Amino acid sequence: MIGNKGIGKIPYGGDWNPEQWEESEWMKDLELLPKAGIDILTVNVFGWAGLQRDDDLWDFSKLDRVMEAATAKGYRICLATGTAAHPAWMARKHPDILRVDIDGRKRKFGARHNSCPSSPTYRAYSVRLAAKLAERYGHRENLVAWHVSNEYYEACWCDACEAGFRRWLERKYGAIENVNRAWNAAFWGHTFYSFEDVVLPSHLSEEWGANRTIFQGMSLDWRRYNSDNILETFKAERDALKAVTPDVPVTTNLMGLYPWLDYRAWAREMDFISWDNYPSPDDPWTVTALRHAAMRGLKDGMPFALMEQTPSVTNWQPYNALKRPGVMRLLSYQAVANGSDTVMFFQMRRSRGACEKFHGAVIDHCGHGDTRVFREVAELGKELRALGAKTLGTRTKARCAVMFDWDTWWALMLTAGPTVDLDYPAEIHRYWAAFARANVACDVVFADSNLDGYEIVAAPCAYLMKPGMAERFEAFTRRGGAFLTTVLSGLADESDLVTDTGYPGPLRTLLGVWVEETDALPLSRSNGIAVESGALAGTWETKTLFDVIHLEGAEAIGRWTAEFYAGTPALTRNRFGAGEAWYVGGVVEQALADRLVSELAAARGIAPPIEPVEGVEVTERAGDGRAYLFALNHGSQPAELTLRFPAVSLLDGASYDASPDSPAALRLAPHDVAILERRGP
Ligand code: GLA
Ligand code: ZN
Repeated sequence: MIGNKGIGKIPYGGDWNPEQWEESEWMKDLELLPKAGIDILTVNVFGWAGLQRDDDLWDFSKLDRVMEAATAKGYRICLATGTAAHPAWMARKHPDILRVDIDGRKRKFGARHNSCPSSPTYRAYSVRLAAKLAERYGHRENLVAWHVSNEYYEACWCDACEAGFRRWLERKYGAIENVNRAWNAAFWGHTFYSFEDVVLPSHLSEEWGANRTIFQGMSLDWRRYNSDNILETFKAERDALKAVTPDVPVTTNLMGLYPWLDYRAWAREMDFISWDNYPSPDDPWTVTALRHAAMRGLKDGMPFALMEQTPSVTNWQPYNALKRPGVMRLLSYQAVANGSDTVMFFQMRRSRGACEKFHGAVIDHCGHGDTRVFREVAELGKELRALGAKTLGTRTKARCAVMFDWDTWWALMLTAGPTVDLDYPAEIHRYWAAFARANVACDVVFADSNLDGYEIVAAPCAYLMKPGMAERFEAFTRRGGAFLTTVLSGLADESDLVTDTGYPGPLRTLLGVWVEETDALPLSRSNGIAVESGALAGTWETKTLFDVIHLEGAEAIGRWTAEFYAGTPALTRNRFGAGEAWYVGGVVEQALADRLVSELAAARGIAPPIEPVEGVEVTERAGDGRAYLFALNHGSQPAELTLRFPAVSLLDGASYDASPDSPAALRLAPHDVAILERRGP
């Protein structure tokens, strides 16, 4: 992992793009940045054009000087392979490298993420570049990680990708009859006679109009293939790097919950996860925290790297608000609190031209460090130095988990009906945030994750059932777990063929319900779920989808208040083995998710380390006998937390002599952070 190469502290730095300046300027940056505590630079992210001028014309002299200068100043280097944007000459000479878009238009040279993943030119040339970089710079002591390409993106619809799709299908299905069956191709007379009949789903074929796609099975397979195909380009570069530097960890920077690539599959090929965090100023803190948790979950809890965040402002949102004083620090610690072992920025110095000229950087256009942003970066730099290696390598210990699955996301995104308003990540967020808001640690797990260590697992909208999945949920519940799922779950198999045994298909026994019909209404309309007594008592607003449920062993906890199905079950619980399985038959208001999750946790004795206070995030990382509690005030008001254990505050040295019987108050100013080292139980 990036933090382990003798830095002895959280690596602090980020992208530096000196190729955009005269060399005479470089030293100014390299001398100024250490004043902000910067100790790691990511270089060569868009360096290809400068390194290779023609098929066999290489020039590493400039990058040599960048590396020399940065090394002489003591920086650690995260070295990018630079293959996220191909050189102009390559596009001119080898047009196969250019992508085709979803409308079938051949792209010209331009922008980035513009290379076709199937292009023989791209494959051969990117691997050659990676190999050359490894040979030239791989021996350097200060090389801490390889950064392959940059934010792999979207897809290509060219003939080569189409041919690759056919070969991928052939490997997966063997015979074309199996494809016809999986996609229900008899619909609209689509029977395929050979693999050659298959074309990519695009605006020219199946993916257009109100149905989103005519064939969900095909569109799903296309996304799987595309993710695999682009992953092959990563693996090819990685293997070239590994052949020379087997011990230097390899990563690529992910983008959180990004729709085009199945990051869980990618994670298996990466040495460590790194990702770029660009929340919108209006995102609640739980949205960002969920993304961190998902990135942590990709490698089953292994600490990840925050590869990029802006120190102040982005350029690409409709309104690019400045991060208010303290917010950069707060969001940096939020990453660490949720599992990051680095704090890194895009970028060190602002571009003068092109679309990122107004994107924030550690060094602004004024060129000196006497700015608010630089000072804040420097303050944090000091703190991180003082923090040293303490948090590095520690992990979140969660007894609760929420399941996220890229196939399910794709299937729900591609589905025609029952509603256009269901937002899968928003449903994941609803339940994950419920745990987070209760200060209960919650992992993000995936369809193939081991559930053994968990006591509560929520799999909202688990629409797409993979082989063995229902059995695993059953085994989890049977041995005492609390399982929770929601509307549309269990409906389809891996190819999006809908169950013919009644909804929710293979989950019917576990949940003890039969869903006969699902109503869908516009967001302007709602129904209520009435719970008569107990901890969930009340009437809870529900929107978007409404299941008509028959009990088959489950008990009705809540019932619909309106429509022709008023009085029928809407929220159910089924005792199953030693555990219980909950079903929520609609898209419920956050308050019900919050209440439900808190009750499930309380019933299992899962207590928060600190009682929740609105707007304050609390997480814990532990390992090797150390335990650190993070408290982050995302609100604009001072907050007061109650400590019931003895602790020392690492950032200000305050010590709290607290116990369950004599609690202490921890005060946090708006946007302030505390890291508490536990000194006892
Ligand atoms: C991404 C990219 C960077 C830069 C930033 C700007 O994360 O990786 O190269 O474009 O966005 O926000
Ligand atoms: Zn292509």
